[in-house]
Amino acid sequence: MIYNLPGRIKTLEPSPIQQALQNTTASDVIAFSLGMPSENLFPILSYKRVMLDFWMPNSLQYAPPIENLKHQIVDLMKQRGVNCTSKQIFLTSGAQQAIHLLCRVLIDRDEVAVTDTATYPGFIQAAQSLNINLSAVSVNFVDGMDMNELDNLYKKTRKPKFLYTMSEGHNPLGMSLNKEKRLKLTEIARTYQIPIIEDDAYGFLNYQTVEPPLKAYDNDWVLYIGSFSKILAPSARVGWVIAPETIITKLEILKESNDINTATFSQRIISAFLDKGDFTKHLLHLQDSYKEKRDKMVKSLRKHIPELLFITPPSGFLIWGKLPYSIDTDKLFWQALKNEKVSFLPGTAFGFSSDPYLSHCLRLSFSYCPLELIEIGVERLARAIKNYTI
Ligand SMILES: Cc1ncc(COP(=O)(O)O)c(C=O)c1O
Repeated sequence: MIYNLPGRIKTLEPSPIQQALQNTTASDVIAFSLGMPSENLFPILSYKRVMLDFWMPNSLQYAPPIENLKHQIVDLMKQRGVNCTSKQIFLTSGAQQAIHLLCRVLIDRDEVAVTDTATYPGFIQAAQSLNINLSAVSVNFVDGMDMNELDNLYKKTRKPKFLYTMSEGHNPLGMSLNKEKRLKLTEIARTYQIPIIEDDAYGFLNYQTVEPPLKAYDNDWVLYIGSFSKILAPSARVGWVIAPETIITKLEILKESNDINTATFSQRIISAFLDKGDFTKHLLHLQDSYKEKRDKMVKSLRKHIPELLFITPPSGFLIWGKLPYSIDTDKLFWQALKNEKVSFLPGTAFGFSSDPYLSHCLRLSFSYCPLELIEIGVERLARAIKNYTI
């Protein structure tokens, strides 16, 4: 039986991340491919403790978003230097849904949105499923987007509807924007009146003092996305948007047609954890543990793969590396997986146009792999690079 699917569905392909997930979960593979949290760092005992409090019918019923959780997010955002009210908070089923709904609110099919040349594949997928045309602005792995190029693009193109980017712990680049670039980016948004969707999925995982999000630099033109996936649990599927109330109203209508409401059960677990689970201590523990993993990977890469160019990421889970031009990381991916049982994601997984820069780059995640396997994995990768065949 062959279904006659519409054209926009026929062309949908699994993302490189979905494909990598299938290939890299074998138990003998050291996986640097996936930006998942470490399972050892889930606060299981605290969850169990706080969950005892809300076994009652209204935790299992359809329900409006939990107001207390919105207030808790307002307090959390203060720690990041962002002032907002609970009315400006919109709860979503993870950052991914926030991206999708914001795209639906801001743009029509065939209109243009702008993002970095290397960007989060979940955004590319959402944009493609909505038939949005994407324009790329060049990035470098040290300090991100080229602001002059963005300015020129805005001057020349028919007016894009929004810019999607990550200012902290960028996926895949690992870098964070410096203060000067944050000021410039928000100034450009104001000048051309083109909103920024700021995806801050890794924003709370900092290993040094960091700048506040773009949202703190411009409240009007930045629509902020946060998530509990990396700091509490991705399976809870709870994220949030901070936006003007006019945008929130539209998001609410769209979300209802999408999944009615964000799982009440998950909201309650998270809210109870924030109240009673010693979140500050938990976050400090995450930051210490991921910093240790990051440092281990950085040291191992310097020792075993000196030809790899990279920076030490100040936040997040990811290291972006650039190899010599003779190495195509798409080919290296399969050779490393088959011959050395180590995985990473090739640079092309993060692009939507054929940008030759990406073909020599790779993304390594240090979050998921156990600490004691990081150097062994890097040694395997070094061997795969040494034995690379065209
Ligand atoms: C940059 C970025 N945005 C959004 C997401 C999706 O997060 P969530 O689990 O909150 O939907 C991810 C997940 O890896 C991510 O890396």
